Amino acid sequence: SERRKYIVGNWKMNGTRDDLGEAAAIAEVASATDTVDVALCPPATLVAPMADRLAEFSIGGQDCHHAEAGAYTGSISAAMLRDAGARLVIVGHSERREGCGESDAIVRAKAERALADGLDVILCVGESKAIRDAGDAERHVTAQLAASLPASFDSARLAIAYEPIWAIGTGDVATVEDVVAMHAALRATLASRIGDDAAKIRLLYGGSVNGANAAELLAAANVDGALVGGASLTAVKFLPIIEAAA
Ligand code: G3H
Repeated sequence: SERRKYIVGNWKMNGTRDDLGEAAAIAEVASATDTVDVALCPPATLVAPMADRLAEFSIGGQDCHHAEAGAYTGSISAAMLRDAGARLVIVGHSERREGCGESDAIVRAKAERALADGLDVILCVGESKAIRDAGDAERHVTAQLAASLPASFDSARLAIAYEPIWAIGTGDVATVEDVVAMHAALRATLASRIGDDAAKIRLLYGGSVNGANAAELLAAANVDGALVGGASLTAVKFLPIIEAAA
């Protein structure tokens, strides 16, 4: 396809400056792999030191506030991430939607703020186990996408990550068939919103991706990359996923 594969590591609440060497090892292989885009999203405290050390590498935040600035103790703005050297930000991760009560409207506002302030966006959607077991996963996830999408956007600057909540950090990866079906539904939702440009948007899968299952997932229709948690924390686990995309 015309879409370059995109492998993104999300370190979540893991990592200190002692781990910058892992990021450097990942960046070195990423820069030598010219058919794949690679990015790492460390905790906010590491964005600046990582970006300072790895100037050519793509570094992102894991969340940003929806406001431009102001009285929001503990929060970080998109402009601050950009100033620290970030090029992108994840918004709408289920650990924020569920753990921090973020609605679709808030996620959409965050995505719009990030794009306006110069960050590319990875917008996450995904269903719980209860919703999947009820047979409602596609309806739920496509509705989540429709309600979280920015009002307008450059399709080159937005990627969607489908992350079934029950597959995150569990070792219980979704089947390729389920991922293909969901990604087709997401592509159709995008097409109904933006027409032909929907074909430019990369759809990532996330949830227990590792070096052993990455190749099969990444070969599937409409799977343009992966959003990787646990297996992105060390070069030895992350590099096989990058290689599987190459
Ligand atoms: O953002 C990453 C996802 O939540 C996946 O995490 O690879 O540890 O399952 P995981």
